[in-house]
Amino acid sequence: MNAIEKLRELFLTYLNDNHIDQSPVELYQPVNYIMELGGKRMRPIMLLMAYSLFKDDPERALPASYAIEMFHNFSLVHDDIMDEAPLRRGKPTVHNKFDANTGILSGDVMLILSYSSLMKTDTTKKDALVLLFNDIATKVCEGQQMDMNFETRVEVEIDEYIKMISYKTAALLAGGMKIGALIADAEEKDANLVFDFAWNIGIAFQLQDDILDTYGDPKKFGKKVGGDIVQNKKTYLVLKALELANEETATRLNGLMNTPTENENEKIETVKEIFNSLDIRREAEKLKKAYQVKAFDALDAVGVSEERKQGLVDIANQLMGREV
Ligand code: IPE
Ligand code: IPE
Ligand code: MG
Ligand code: MG
Ligand code: MG
Repeated sequence: MNAIEKLRELFLTYLNDNHIDQSPVELYQPVNYIMELGGKRMRPIMLLMAYSLFKDDPERALPASYAIEMFHNFSLVHDDIMDEAPLRRGKPTVHNKFDANTGILSGDVMLILSYSSLMKTDTTKKDALVLLFNDIATKVCEGQQMDMNFETRVEVEIDEYIKMISYKTAALLAGGMKIGALIADAEEKDANLVFDFAWNIGIAFQLQDDILDTYGDPKKFGKKVGGDIVQNKKTYLVLKALELANEETATRLNGLMNTPTENENEKIETVKEIFNSLDIRREAEKLKKAYQVKAFDALDAVGVSEERKQGLVDIANQLMGREV
Protein backbone atom coordinates (compact mmCIF):
# COMPACT_ATOMS: atom_id res chain seq x y z
CA MET A 1 0.00 0.00 0.00
CA ASN A 2 1.31 3.47 -0.81
CA ALA A 3 1.00 6.47 1.53
CA ILE A 4 -2.29 7.65 0.01
CA GLU A 5 -3.95 4.23 0.30
CA LYS A 6 -2.72 3.78 3.89
CA LEU A 7 -4.19 7.08 4.99
CA ARG A 8 -7.43 6.37 3.13
CA GLU A 9 -7.72 3.04 4.98
CA LEU A 10 -6.96 4.72 8.29
CA PHE A 11 -9.66 7.30 7.66
CA LEU A 12 -12.25 4.79 6.40
CA THR A 13 -11.80 2.61 9.49
CA TYR A 14 -12.31 5.65 11.71
CA LEU A 15 -15.40 6.61 9.70
CA ASN A 16 -16.78 3.12 10.08
CA ASP A 17 -16.14 3.19 13.85
CA ASN A 18 -18.04 6.46 14.04
CA HIS A 19 -21.19 5.33 12.25
CA ILE A 20 -24.05 7.21 13.94
CA ASP A 21 -26.62 5.07 15.73
CA GLN A 22 -28.80 7.71 17.28
CA SER A 23 -32.41 8.70 17.03
CA PRO A 24 -34.44 10.14 15.47
CA VAL A 25 -33.35 7.97 12.55
CA GLU A 26 -34.96 10.46 10.12
CA LEU A 27 -32.27 12.96 11.19
CA TYR A 28 -29.25 10.64 11.25
CA GLN A 29 -29.95 8.16 8.46
CA PRO A 30 -29.27 10.81 5.77
CA VAL A 31 -26.03 11.71 7.58
CA ASN A 32 -24.81 8.12 7.40
CA TYR A 33 -26.14 7.88 3.84
CA ILE A 34 -24.10 10.76 2.48
CA MET A 35 -21.02 10.09 4.63
CA GLU A 36 -20.90 6.45 3.56
CA LEU A 37 -21.73 7.04 -0.10
CA GLY A 38 -18.04 7.17 -0.89
CA GLY A 39 -16.26 10.02 -2.58
CA LYS A 40 -12.57 10.56 -2.99
CA ARG A 41 -11.98 11.51 0.67
CA MET A 42 -9.29 13.86 -0.50
CA ARG A 43 -9.80 16.46 2.25
CA PRO A 44 -9.30 14.09 5.20
CA ILE A 45 -6.47 12.27 3.41
CA MET A 46 -4.71 15.55 2.65
CA LEU A 47 -5.19 16.78 6.22
CA LEU A 48 -3.56 13.56 7.44
CA MET A 49 -0.81 14.04 4.86
CA ALA A 50 -0.20 17.58 6.09
CA TYR A 51 0.17 16.16 9.60
CA SER A 52 2.48 13.44 8.25
CA LEU A 53 4.83 16.01 6.75
CA PHE A 54 5.92 16.74 10.32
CA LYS A 55 5.03 13.76 12.52
CA ASP A 56 4.64 10.00 12.20
CA ASP A 57 1.44 9.26 14.16
CA PRO A 58 -1.37 10.48 11.85
CA GLU A 59 -3.98 8.76 14.09
CA ARG A 60 -3.79 11.86 16.24
CA ALA A 61 -5.28 13.96 13.45
CA LEU A 62 -8.21 11.60 12.77
CA PRO A 63 -10.89 13.56 14.67
CA ALA A 64 -9.90 16.70 12.74
CA SER A 65 -9.91 14.81 9.43
CA TYR A 66 -13.38 13.49 10.25
CA ALA A 67 -14.47 17.05 11.07
CA ILE A 68 -13.33 18.29 7.66
CA GLU A 69 -15.02 15.44 5.78
CA MET A 70 -18.22 15.96 7.79
CA PHE A 71 -18.18 19.68 7.01
CA HIS A 72 -17.55 18.94 3.33
CA ASN A 73 -20.48 16.53 3.20
CA PHE A 74 -22.69 19.03 5.03
CA SER A 75 -21.80 21.62 2.41
CA LEU A 76 -22.63 19.14 -0.37
CA VAL A 77 -26.08 18.37 1.07
CA HIS A 78 -26.96 22.06 1.14
CA ASP A 79 -25.16 22.75 -2.16
CA ASP A 80 -27.23 20.08 -3.90
CA ILE A 81 -30.44 21.73 -2.70
CA MET A 82 -29.18 25.12 -3.92
CA ASP A 83 -27.97 23.71 -7.27
CA GLU A 84 -31.08 21.51 -7.70
CA ALA A 85 -28.74 18.57 -8.30
CA PRO A 86 -30.31 15.11 -8.69
CA LEU A 87 -27.15 12.99 -8.42
CA ARG A 88 -24.15 12.76 -6.16
CA ARG A 89 -21.49 10.04 -6.31
CA GLY A 90 -23.70 8.16 -8.74
CA LYS A 91 -26.64 8.04 -6.29
CA PRO A 92 -29.64 10.28 -5.56
CA THR A 93 -28.76 13.43 -3.61
CA VAL A 94 -30.11 13.65 -0.04
CA HIS A 95 -32.94 16.06 -0.88
CA ASN A 96 -33.86 13.89 -3.87
CA LYS A 97 -33.86 10.60 -1.93
CA PHE A 98 -35.53 12.07 1.18
CA ASP A 99 -36.76 15.67 0.84
CA ALA A 100 -35.49 19.25 1.09
CA ASN A 101 -36.42 19.65 4.78
CA THR A 102 -34.43 16.54 5.59
CA GLY A 103 -31.47 17.94 3.66
CA ILE A 104 -31.65 21.20 5.58
CA LEU A 105 -31.83 19.72 9.09
CA SER A 106 -29.51 16.74 8.57
CA GLY A 107 -27.08 19.24 7.03
CA ASP A 108 -27.39 21.46 10.09
CA VAL A 109 -26.59 18.64 12.49
CA MET A 110 -23.62 17.65 10.32
CA LEU A 111 -22.18 21.13 10.76
CA ILE A 112 -22.48 20.71 14.55
CA LEU A 113 -21.01 17.20 14.41
CA SER A 114 -18.01 18.53 12.54
CA TYR A 115 -17.24 21.04 15.33
CA SER A 116 -17.75 18.33 17.99
CA SER A 117 -15.22 16.16 16.24
CA LEU A 118 -12.67 18.95 15.88
CA MET A 119 -12.97 19.53 19.65
CA LYS A 120 -11.95 15.92 20.30
CA THR A 121 -8.46 16.67 18.97
CA ASP A 122 -5.66 15.96 21.42
CA THR A 123 -3.89 19.33 21.32
CA THR A 124 -3.28 22.44 23.40
CA LYS A 125 -4.19 24.56 20.37
CA LYS A 126 -7.94 24.03 20.26
CA ASP A 127 -8.76 27.73 20.30
CA ALA A 128 -6.55 28.37 17.29
CA LEU A 129 -8.06 25.40 15.44
CA VAL A 130 -11.62 26.56 16.06
CA LEU A 131 -10.85 30.14 15.03
CA LEU A 132 -9.26 28.87 11.82
CA PHE A 133 -12.20 26.55 11.21
CA ASN A 134 -14.63 29.46 11.74
CA ASP A 135 -12.71 31.53 9.25
CA ILE A 136 -12.75 28.89 6.51
CA ALA A 137 -16.35 27.87 7.18
CA THR A 138 -17.38 31.51 6.79
CA LYS A 139 -15.45 31.72 3.52
CA VAL A 140 -17.26 28.62 2.22
CA CYS A 141 -20.61 30.35 2.88
CA GLU A 142 -19.39 33.59 1.28
CA GLY A 143 -18.13 31.69 -1.78
CA GLN A 144 -21.40 29.80 -2.06
CA GLN A 145 -23.37 33.05 -1.95
CA MET A 146 -21.15 34.58 -4.64
CA ASP A 147 -21.70 31.46 -6.77
CA MET A 148 -25.48 31.89 -6.40
CA ASN A 149 -25.32 35.65 -7.07
CA PHE A 150 -23.39 35.04 -10.29
CA GLU A 151 -26.16 32.80 -11.68
CA THR A 152 -28.25 35.92 -12.24
CA ARG A 153 -25.45 38.40 -12.87
CA VAL A 154 -24.59 39.12 -16.49
CA GLU A 155 -21.13 40.61 -16.01
CA VAL A 156 -18.72 38.56 -13.92
CA GLU A 157 -14.98 39.21 -14.01
CA ILE A 158 -12.51 36.31 -14.05
CA ASP A 159 -10.94 37.69 -10.85
CA GLU A 160 -14.31 37.53 -9.14
CA TYR A 161 -14.74 33.95 -10.29
CA ILE A 162 -11.32 33.03 -8.87
CA LYS A 163 -12.24 34.64 -5.55
CA MET A 164 -15.54 32.75 -5.55
CA ILE A 165 -13.96 29.32 -6.14
CA SER A 166 -11.14 30.09 -3.70
CA TYR A 167 -13.73 30.67 -1.00
CA LYS A 168 -16.25 27.95 -1.81
CA THR A 169 -13.68 25.19 -2.46
CA ALA A 170 -10.02 26.03 -1.83
CA ALA A 171 -10.53 27.50 1.65
CA LEU A 172 -11.72 24.22 3.17
CA LEU A 173 -8.84 22.21 1.76
CA ALA A 174 -6.33 24.89 2.77
CA GLY A 175 -7.77 25.35 6.26
CA GLY A 176 -7.99 21.60 6.74
CA MET A 177 -4.39 21.07 5.76
CA LYS A 178 -3.22 23.94 7.95
CA ILE A 179 -5.12 22.35 10.83
CA GLY A 180 -3.24 19.10 10.14
CA ALA A 181 0.08 20.96 10.18
CA LEU A 182 -0.79 22.84 13.39
CA ILE A 183 -1.79 19.66 15.24
CA ALA A 184 1.63 18.30 14.26
CA ASP A 185 3.22 21.41 15.85
CA ALA A 186 4.65 22.65 12.56
CA GLU A 187 6.21 26.10 12.65
CA GLU A 188 3.84 28.90 11.61
CA LYS A 189 5.89 29.55 8.46
CA ASP A 190 5.56 25.92 7.32
CA ALA A 191 1.88 25.72 8.28
CA ASN A 192 1.26 28.80 6.11
CA LEU A 193 3.15 27.29 3.17
CA VAL A 194 1.01 24.17 3.50
CA PHE A 195 -2.02 26.48 3.45
CA ASP A 196 -0.76 28.18 0.26
CA PHE A 197 -0.12 24.83 -1.40
CA ALA A 198 -3.67 23.68 -0.65
CA TRP A 199 -5.25 27.01 -1.58
CA ASN A 200 -3.72 26.83 -5.07
CA ILE A 201 -4.41 23.12 -5.49
CA GLY A 202 -7.99 23.83 -4.37
CA ILE A 203 -8.41 26.41 -7.13
CA ALA A 204 -6.98 23.96 -9.69
CA PHE A 205 -9.30 21.29 -8.29
CA GLN A 206 -12.41 23.45 -8.76
CA LEU A 207 -11.29 24.33 -12.31
CA GLN A 208 -11.12 20.59 -12.99
CA ASP A 209 -14.58 20.23 -11.41
CA ASP A 210 -15.92 22.88 -13.78
CA ILE A 211 -14.27 21.15 -16.76
CA LEU A 212 -15.75 17.78 -15.75
CA ASP A 213 -19.20 19.27 -15.25
CA THR A 214 -19.29 19.88 -19.02
CA TYR A 215 -16.82 17.31 -20.35
CA GLY A 216 -17.06 14.46 -17.82
CA ASP A 217 -18.12 10.94 -18.74
CA PRO A 218 -21.65 10.49 -17.34
CA LYS A 219 -20.83 6.86 -16.52
CA LYS A 220 -17.90 7.88 -14.30
CA PHE A 221 -18.58 11.43 -13.12
CA GLY A 222 -21.31 10.57 -10.58
CA LYS A 223 -23.00 13.95 -10.98
CA LYS A 224 -25.28 15.24 -13.71
CA VAL A 225 -23.12 16.30 -16.65
CA GLY A 226 -24.13 19.76 -17.90
CA GLY A 227 -25.64 20.79 -14.56
CA ASP A 228 -23.61 24.02 -14.42
CA ILE A 229 -24.86 25.07 -17.86
CA VAL A 230 -28.47 24.34 -16.91
CA GLN A 231 -28.08 26.43 -13.71
CA ASN A 232 -26.42 29.36 -15.55
CA LYS A 233 -23.23 28.98 -13.49
CA LYS A 234 -20.61 31.55 -14.45
CA THR A 235 -17.73 29.10 -14.61
CA TYR A 236 -14.33 29.86 -16.08
CA LEU A 237 -15.47 28.06 -19.24
CA VAL A 238 -18.26 30.58 -19.72
CA LEU A 239 -16.24 33.65 -18.76
CA LYS A 240 -13.28 32.74 -20.95
CA ALA A 241 -15.60 31.94 -23.86
CA LEU A 242 -17.21 35.37 -23.51
CA GLU A 243 -13.76 36.94 -23.57
CA LEU A 244 -12.58 35.06 -26.68
CA ALA A 245 -15.79 34.98 -28.74
CA ASN A 246 -16.67 37.44 -31.46
CA GLU A 247 -19.51 39.83 -30.71
CA GLU A 248 -22.23 37.69 -32.25
CA THR A 249 -21.24 34.49 -30.42
CA ALA A 250 -20.72 36.37 -27.16
CA THR A 251 -24.20 37.84 -27.41
CA ARG A 252 -25.65 34.40 -28.06
CA LEU A 253 -23.77 32.81 -25.17
CA ASN A 254 -24.70 35.69 -22.85
CA GLY A 255 -28.34 35.25 -23.81
CA LEU A 256 -28.26 31.51 -23.16
CA MET A 257 -26.44 31.77 -19.83
CA ASN A 258 -28.69 34.50 -18.47
CA THR A 259 -32.15 33.11 -19.22
CA PRO A 260 -33.89 30.31 -17.35
CA THR A 261 -33.28 26.96 -19.04
CA GLU A 262 -36.15 25.54 -21.09
CA ASN A 263 -34.76 22.64 -23.08
CA GLU A 264 -31.87 21.29 -20.99
CA ASN A 265 -30.22 18.99 -23.53
CA GLU A 266 -30.47 21.47 -26.36
CA LYS A 267 -28.90 24.22 -24.23
CA ILE A 268 -26.09 21.95 -23.03
CA GLU A 269 -25.29 20.95 -26.63
CA THR A 270 -25.35 24.53 -27.94
CA VAL A 271 -23.16 25.92 -25.16
CA LYS A 272 -20.76 23.01 -25.52
CA GLU A 273 -20.45 23.68 -29.26
CA ILE A 274 -19.54 27.28 -28.52
CA PHE A 275 -16.93 26.13 -25.97
CA ASN A 276 -15.49 23.64 -28.48
CA SER A 277 -15.26 26.22 -31.26
CA LEU A 278 -13.12 28.39 -28.96
CA ASP A 279 -11.01 25.53 -27.55
CA ILE A 280 -12.19 26.47 -24.08
CA ARG A 281 -11.34 23.18 -22.47
CA ARG A 282 -7.68 23.77 -23.31
CA GLU A 283 -7.87 27.30 -21.90
CA ALA A 284 -9.22 25.93 -18.63
CA GLU A 285 -6.53 23.24 -18.53
CA LYS A 286 -3.89 25.96 -18.96
CA LEU A 287 -5.16 27.96 -16.02
CA LYS A 288 -5.45 24.81 -13.92
CA LYS A 289 -1.82 24.01 -14.68
CA ALA A 290 -0.74 27.51 -13.65
CA TYR A 291 -2.34 27.07 -10.21
CA GLN A 292 -0.80 23.63 -9.88
CA VAL A 293 2.65 25.15 -10.49
CA LYS A 294 1.99 27.82 -7.85
CA ALA A 295 0.95 25.09 -5.42
CA PHE A 296 4.12 23.07 -5.97
CA ASP A 297 6.25 26.20 -5.48
CA ALA A 298 4.74 26.58 -2.02
CA LEU A 299 5.23 22.90 -1.22
CA ASP A 300 8.87 23.10 -2.33
CA ALA A 301 9.49 25.78 0.30
CA VAL A 302 8.17 23.70 3.22
CA GLY A 303 11.12 22.85 5.46
CA VAL A 304 10.94 19.05 5.43
CA SER A 305 12.56 16.37 3.25
CA GLU A 306 11.42 15.73 -0.34
CA GLU A 307 10.58 12.20 0.72
CA ARG A 308 7.97 13.45 3.18
CA LYS A 309 6.36 15.57 0.46
CA GLN A 310 6.05 12.81 -2.12
CA GLY A 311 2.56 11.68 -1.07
CA LEU A 312 1.20 15.20 -1.53
CA VAL A 313 2.85 15.54 -4.93
CA ASP A 314 1.26 12.23 -5.97
CA ILE A 315 -2.24 13.01 -4.73
CA ALA A 316 -2.16 16.50 -6.27
CA ASN A 317 -1.17 15.00 -9.64
CA GLN A 318 -3.91 12.37 -9.35
CA LEU A 319 -6.54 15.01 -8.61
CA MET A 320 -5.54 17.16 -11.57
CA GLY A 321 -6.23 14.31 -13.98
CA ARG A 322 -9.30 12.98 -12.18
CA GLU A 323 -12.44 11.88 -14.01
CA VAL A 324 -14.62 11.61 -10.88
C1 IPE B 1 -17.18 18.16 -4.66
O1 IPE B 1 -16.04 17.76 -4.00
C2 IPE B 1 -17.43 19.59 -4.36
C3 IPE B 1 -16.42 20.49 -4.91
C4 IPE B 1 -15.77 21.33 -4.18
C5 IPE B 1 -16.14 20.49 -6.33
P1 IPE B 1 -15.33 16.37 -4.32
O2 IPE B 1 -15.12 16.23 -5.79
O3 IPE B 1 -14.14 16.24 -3.44
O4 IPE B 1 -16.45 15.32 -3.88
P2 IPE B 1 -16.32 13.85 -3.27
O5 IPE B 1 -16.29 14.02 -1.80
O6 IPE B 1 -15.09 13.20 -3.83
O7 IPE B 1 -17.57 13.17 -3.74
C1 IPE C 1 -19.37 23.16 -4.54
O1 IPE C 1 -19.19 23.62 -5.81
C2 IPE C 1 -18.69 23.86 -3.44
C3 IPE C 1 -19.31 23.49 -2.15
C4 IPE C 1 -20.07 22.46 -1.94
C5 IPE C 1 -19.05 24.34 -1.03
P1 IPE C 1 -20.05 22.87 -6.90
O2 IPE C 1 -21.49 23.20 -6.80
O3 IPE C 1 -19.35 23.04 -8.21
O4 IPE C 1 -19.83 21.33 -6.44
P2 IPE C 1 -20.50 20.09 -7.13
O5 IPE C 1 -20.13 20.16 -8.59
O6 IPE C 1 -21.97 20.20 -6.89
O7 IPE C 1 -19.87 18.92 -6.45
MG1 MG D 1 -22.66 24.78 -6.10
MG1 MG E 1 -23.18 21.82 -6.87
MG1 MG F 1 -19.25 21.48 -9.76
